[in-house]
Amino acid sequence: MAGFDETFLWGGAIAANQYEGGYREGGKGLGPVDYLPTKAEDRVHVMYHPSLAVSQTFDYYPSHKAIDGYHFFKEDIAMFAEMGFKCLRLSVSWPRIFPNGDEEEPNEVGLRFYDELFDECLNYGIEPVVTLNHFDTPMYLYENYDGWTNRKLVDFFVRYASVMFNRYKGKVKYWLTFNEINILQVLPFLGGSFDPEKFENSLQAKYQAAHHQLIASALATKLAREIDPENKIGCMLAAGEAYPNTCNPNDIWAAKMLDREGFFFIDVQVRGKYPSYSQRFFEENQLVIHQEKEDEEILKHTVDFIGFSYYSTKVVSADDQVLSSAEKTDGNIFSSLENPYLPKSEWGWIIDPMGLRITMNTLYDRYQVPLFVVENGLGALDEPNEQGIIDDEYRIDYLRKHVLALEEAVKDGVEVLGYTPWGCIDIISAGTGQMSKRYGFIHVDLDDQGQGTFKRSRKKSFNWYKQVIASNGENV
Ligand code: BG6
Repeated sequence: MAGFDETFLWGGAIAANQYEGGYREGGKGLGPVDYLPTKAEDRVHVMYHPSLAVSQTFDYYPSHKAIDGYHFFKEDIAMFAEMGFKCLRLSVSWPRIFPNGDEEEPNEVGLRFYDELFDECLNYGIEPVVTLNHFDTPMYLYENYDGWTNRKLVDFFVRYASVMFNRYKGKVKYWLTFNEINILQVLPFLGGSFDPEKFENSLQAKYQAAHHQLIASALATKLAREIDPENKIGCMLAAGEAYPNTCNPNDIWAAKMLDREGFFFIDVQVRGKYPSYSQRFFEENQLVIHQEKEDEEILKHTVDFIGFSYYSTKVVSADDQVLSSAEKTDGNIFSSLENPYLPKSEWGWIIDPMGLRITMNTLYDRYQVPLFVVENGLGALDEPNEQGIIDDEYRIDYLRKHVLALEEAVKDGVEVLGYTPWGCIDIISAGTGQMSKRYGFIHVDLDDQGQGTFKRSRKKSFNWYKQVIASNGENV
């Protein structure tokens, strides 16, 4: 049984809105995250009630400076290269390229920034893995078009994608269309740049927006192949198996239903059509998705691989009494019932390495296309020891167990392109806006109020990951 092969892409992952800062530099427009405050409760409140984003002013907006990757990227990429990264997953800020989103011509200054960024990666032999939309639909499209509920966004997105594919032909080969496309159902402001409270039937608005993103993704996939047949296009799912709370068939069904909420998107993106179960769901919820006559054909342009984020699994019950009385815990996007068999992170996210193997087997059994683990990691409070070093053995332990589970999945026969742990350098947390929720191998001197020197330094996990990559996963 072979483990990782020589082509396996070890690397790390970041996103523009959490890394770059420079929020007004070079003519950049604003994205939804630029309106999100840092205080965790306020931030989550605004995410759920986006009208507050424009009507209120907050003390500090962490994305505005982020970790100033806009100016530090050369230093950062040199450190990624020192760890031996074979790839770097990053996103392009759509509003840096089209500040409003509906312009005819792109912003040349924004493009030049990415010219330099990608070239810097390529100079070190680091393959860029580029997400086109990571919570970054221009805010102007929220204000003037109601975001992805409006079909016009399909054209705007395809124009933006076309600029990217043409400009970076031969330089970028791996693309992801929408980060965690299923986030749109839970956080429509982040995922779809619209306010569900503006719509009489918010579920209808969400699924209409989802349809537009699925069409935009399929058109971008088609275009990417036409521009360069070498391109590899992926979708991206916030994954993590739902476990039934008991073996009561009703709990099993509830878990299946929750998984399907996410699979719905991937079913379309991999199989090229709406899944059969969606018909009943649409009927029972009186949803009528408006489709153009060409849409059925467009959706047939399916992706080459499935990118996914994995942080934890979730536990689901169908029993109202259990749901109202049992302890719940936090997680990436979805909350969950407690899992008595598993520990949790300081932010209450269930830690379940075996769940990664289970999730990967489920995805591969279902779709039979290569997978790419484009996010995984532990958000933790890091304190330097007496020698001033961050001895993050807890992070090493988390990652080691997940790498081993990933290797088991490979041995199970799952085809995997690579592994890019999230926040390979400390960045702003998407969920809480905190800097103190750190994931990186590299520490950045910055606090939750944006105070600090931005100095980068290596944590203990830096050398650990370096040796994992150097040994191609042998030495964990
Ligand atoms: C994923 C996102 O949901 O989880 C990232 O794609 C995010 O943008 C990551 O940062 C971790 O979540 P958080 O809230 O800890 O930053």
